[in-house]
Parts: sequence; structure tokens; C-alpha cells
Amino acid sequence: MTDRAPQHTAESLAEPMRSRWSTSVYDDAHRLADHEIETLLRAAQWAPSKGNTQPWLFFVCVRGTANHDRLLLTLSRGNSGWVPRASVVFVTAAHVRTGAEPDAPAYSDHALYDVGQAAAHLTLQAHAMGLHAHQFAGFDHDALAAALGVPPTHRVLTGIAVGVPGDPAEVDERTAARDHRERVRRPLEEWAFGGRFGEPWVADSPS
Ligand SMILES: Cc1cc2nc3c(=O)[nH]c(=O)nc-3n(C[C@H](O)[C@H](O)[C@H](O)COP(=O)(O)O)c2cc1C
Repeated sequence: MTDRAPQHTAESLAEPMRSRWSTSVYDDAHRLADHEIETLLRAAQWAPSKGNTQPWLFFVCVRGTANHDRLLLTLSRGNSGWVPRASVVFVTAAHVRTGAEPDAPAYSDHALYDVGQAAAHLTLQAHAMGLHAHQFAGFDHDALAAALGVPPTHRVLTGIAVGVPGDPAEVDERTAARDHRERVRRPLEEWAFGGRFGEPWVADSPS
């Protein structure tokens, strides 16, 4: 799918960032080998984290298993057309509190940041392995936490669907059209500051 990536301004990136994008059309016959799943988990395992606290937790939901069925029941309408076809979904959660009480001390004040980073590592590792990954948050978090037995010390955050691209003719039109939505990004001037807040970073040498 070369029309999806690299996009203009992404050409100078290293692989697999350069060609990563989030497909919504997966091949529902494809299966990941256990060693591939393990490698993806290893990518998350070796992500940096504050004080090496490693506050992440990943549920492995392989298509056709009980964990996958639990996830499917909680998907938002927008995600129920494409997530089920992915080979595996990793559900991420963060260790947020040291005890079950709502006022228990935080496990780490950077837990969410660190889980996001572990998710990014897994996502990029997937693309480096010739797979596709698409992160999503559109599901009933409370229902899935209950179905997976997640204790109050942990917070369910996202899913990461992984697999290989499928045939758009095999999915409904709305799902197929998702893979043709324009991929856009906010310009650097809006969020890369070279001085105080709001002062855009400007390259020294004119390009
Ligand atoms: C935390 C998070 C939540 C997301 N939730 C959804 C979602 O519920 N459904 C969906 O189709 N995509 C979801 N996405 C994917 C984004 O829409 C996608 O990454 C973004 O549009 C950029 O497209 P790209 O990944 O192809 O560059 C989510 C991504 C992140 C990081």
C-alpha cells in the first residue's frame, strides 16, 4: 500500500517509522506464530521506563480464543468492523496504584507515559517484521477490565491490533474506505518550540 506511506515530510525517517501506518483491513486467515507474538512482547519489554518501573501489562488476545471473544464484546461500533479480523490484539494496561483503595499512592507518576512508549515499541517492531499494527481505544474499558479480571491497581488503556493487510473486497465498504482516509499531521510550527511556549523552532540554516 504505497499510497499510505511514506507521506510527504516522512520520507527522511528511518524504517519502520517511515512506512508505518494503521490499516483497518486485515487478513482474517493470517495467524501469528507464538515466537512472533513473543518477539512483539519482547519489544515492549525492552522499552525504557521511569526508574525502570515497567508499569505495563499486556493481555494477548489471539483471534479465536476466549480472550479475543471477551474483547470483541466490548468494541465500539466503529471498531467492530475491523478489529475482529486482526490476527492478534494486545490489550494494554498500566499499573497505576499500589493498592486497591482509590487514594492509594501512585505506582509511578509516569505510568501512562511508559505504557504508551512500550506500545510504540511493540507497534514499530510489528512493522519491522512485515506486520501491520493499529492501536485503538474505542471499546468499553470498564467492561473489558471486568471480563479480564483486572484489579483496581491497574487501568486498561488501549488495544493494538496486529496482522497482515487483507483484501478490501472481503470487508464492508465503510471499513474498506477507512484505508483511504487522508493521513495528515499538524505542522511543526504548532508544537515544536525553539523558545518560550508558542515560539516555533526555526532551522538555523535555510533548507
Ligand atoms: C491512543 C490511541 C487511540 C486510538 N483509537 C482508535 C480507535 O478507537 N479506532 C481507530 O480506528 N483508530 C484509533 N487510533 C488510531 C489513530 O486514529 C491513528 O493512529 C491516527 O489516525 C494516525 O494514523 P496513522 O497511524 O495511520 O498514522 C488510535 C490511536 C491511538 C494512539
